Amino acid sequence: MSQRLTINQNAKPIYDIVYEHDFGRLAEELEKFEIHTKKLCIIADSKVNGLYADEVCEALKDKCKKILVFSFPDGEKSKNLDTIQNIYKFLIENKYDRRDMLLALGGGVTGDMAGFVAATYLRGIDFVQIPTSLLAQVDSSIGGKTGVDCDQYKNMVGAFYMPKLVYMNLSTLKTLDDRQYYSGMAEVMKHGLIKNANFYEWIIDNMYEIHDRDLETLEEMVLKSNTCKKIVVEKDPTEKGERAILNFGHTIGHAIEKAKNFELLHGECVALGCVAAAYISWKRDLISKDEYYEIRDMFVPFNLPISIENIDPEEIFALTSSDKKMEGEHLKFILLKSVGKAMIDKTVTKEEILAGINEIYFTDEDWDE
Ligand code: GLY
Repeated sequence: MSQRLTINQNAKPIYDIVYEHDFGRLAEELEKFEIHTKKLCIIADSKVNGLYADEVCEALKDKCKKILVFSFPDGEKSKNLDTIQNIYKFLIENKYDRRDMLLALGGGVTGDMAGFVAATYLRGIDFVQIPTSLLAQVDSSIGGKTGVDCDQYKNMVGAFYMPKLVYMNLSTLKTLDDRQYYSGMAEVMKHGLIKNANFYEWIIDNMYEIHDRDLETLEEMVLKSNTCKKIVVEKDPTEKGERAILNFGHTIGHAIEKAKNFELLHGECVALGCVAAAYISWKRDLISKDEYYEIRDMFVPFNLPISIENIDPEEIFALTSSDKKMEGEHLKFILLKSVGKAMIDKTVTKEEILAGINEIYFTDEDWDE
């Protein structure tokens, strides 16, 4: 029996997350949504299309009315309204109606865009998340955030829209390149840091199995990570309050991502942002010096950066204030109260943010020390 986690809202089940090691049970799970009466459209980027779309089509083609694939060039640069418009056109030309279903097969870019199309096409059509990257499995496929970047501002246009199901095939993590895989680890570590100190220790204790991508360990890790996120999104599905703690590391992280023109991966920027935010937490005496250095140094064995060259701290600061996390004049900054507990703070000053950025800024002078 496969493991499942249910996401509820107001004590009512909204969707299940199922944990599998292949696509063998996808048809059975989708049959619960009467797909024999529906046309399905797989949305996948060019990379994932080449890897998994044929296998998913094969598994579903006799179970539904019709199945087509819409593919777009892989990468964050595709996450824009032009791609969304191309998906709308494809659905219109192929006569998809409101009873049909979209399948988001791929990483975070695919899930966010397919979800946004699902939320808006014909004012709403069902969709299922089939995340294939670690980042998507532990973060973006859970919680119903959908959207696109606008003029390189991350996720500025979007909607909260829940999938009908999240189907995790953990074996897909085996084909990820190392950089993508470890980028996802930043979100896993973030979940431990903000919500569950025992899980954070578990990650460190299981470091070697995580490096080996042992399937049982991956399943346990993704399930534990999803459980942290479940607790937060169930209480605050539309980010009126507590859900903002999931943005730990993201204020400075997103700013670096944009300043570096998306050359660094999202998780790499999140790791840098977590170090800066943990530094500010230490300087405010919320966590100890030893805790700060442990948090910083534990990103290293997971191949994540803890410092960065060639940035302009003032530019990074300026970019933090164009982030979605602004509430009027106030930046909602996430700090750590301890390992496993985060808090929202609206009083973090420019000086503190610059000090955090300077902590991760590696200059030529650092070589000389
Ligand atoms: N990735 C942050 C959230 O889902 O709220």
